[in-house]
Amino acid sequence: MASKFLLFTMGALPLAQLQRQQFSQNNEMAEEGNTERQAICILNSENGQTGKGIVHFIQSSLVARTQIQGQFSGLNPNQRHGFHIHQYGNLSQGCVTAGPHYNPLNQVHGGPDSAIRHVGDLGNVQADESGNAKVDFIDHQVTLYGPHSVVGRACVLHRDTDDLGTSDNEESKKTGNAGPRIACGIIGLSKE
Ligand SMILES: *[C@@H]1O[C@H](CO)[C@@H](O)[C@H](O)[C@H]1NC(C)=O
Repeated sequence: MASKFLLFTMGALPLAQLQRQQFSQNNEMAEEGNTERQAICILNSENGQTGKGIVHFIQSSLVARTQIQGQFSGLNPNQRHGFHIHQYGNLSQGCVTAGPHYNPLNQVHGGPDSAIRHVGDLGNVQADESGNAKVDFIDHQVTLYGPHSVVGRACVLHRDTDDLGTSDNEESKKTGNAGPRIACGIIGLSKE
C-alpha cells in the first residue's frame, strides 16, 4: 500500500505539469484559431501571357472552412483554366519554380470536391466570352492555420483545363493535364 502511494505521488507531479502545459498550448491554439484570417494572392501574367487575377481566402476560425473568391481576366474566352495552389512561393524563375501542386498528405490529383485530392486542387475557373472569370466557393481542405497552411505558397493559373484526375493517363493523377502556367502569385496574409 505504502509503495503504491509512493509510486502515485512520484508519478503525479510530472503528469500534472504535463497536463498544465498541454492546457496552455491548447488555449493558445484556441485563441489563435478564434481570430479570422484572410489571405490574398495577386496573380501576375507570365511573359507573353495575358491571364491574371486576384484571389481572396477568408477563414473565420481554425475549424471553419475557407471561402475562396477570385476574379480573373485575359483568359481564353469560354474556356476553363486549371487553378491550383502550388508548393512554393518561390517565383524566382516565374511560375515554373512554384513546384508541384501543394500536396502535404501525399495524395493523388483530384478536383475540389474529391475526397482524395491534393490540398492545392482547386479545379478550374470558367472564362466567359470576354475572357473574364469569377469564382466564389467554400473549400474543404485549404486552411490558413497550422502546419498545412497555404500562406506563403503560390496560386497558379494554367493554360489548359484540369481534367480533375479523371483521364486515363498518368499525368491526370498528377497535374490534371492543365498544361503550362500562365499566371501566378504568392499567397500572403491580408488580415489576422
Ligand atoms: C527558388 O527556385 C530557384 C529556381 O528553381 C532555385 O534555384 C532556388 O534555389 C530556389 N530557392 C529556394 C530558397 O529554394
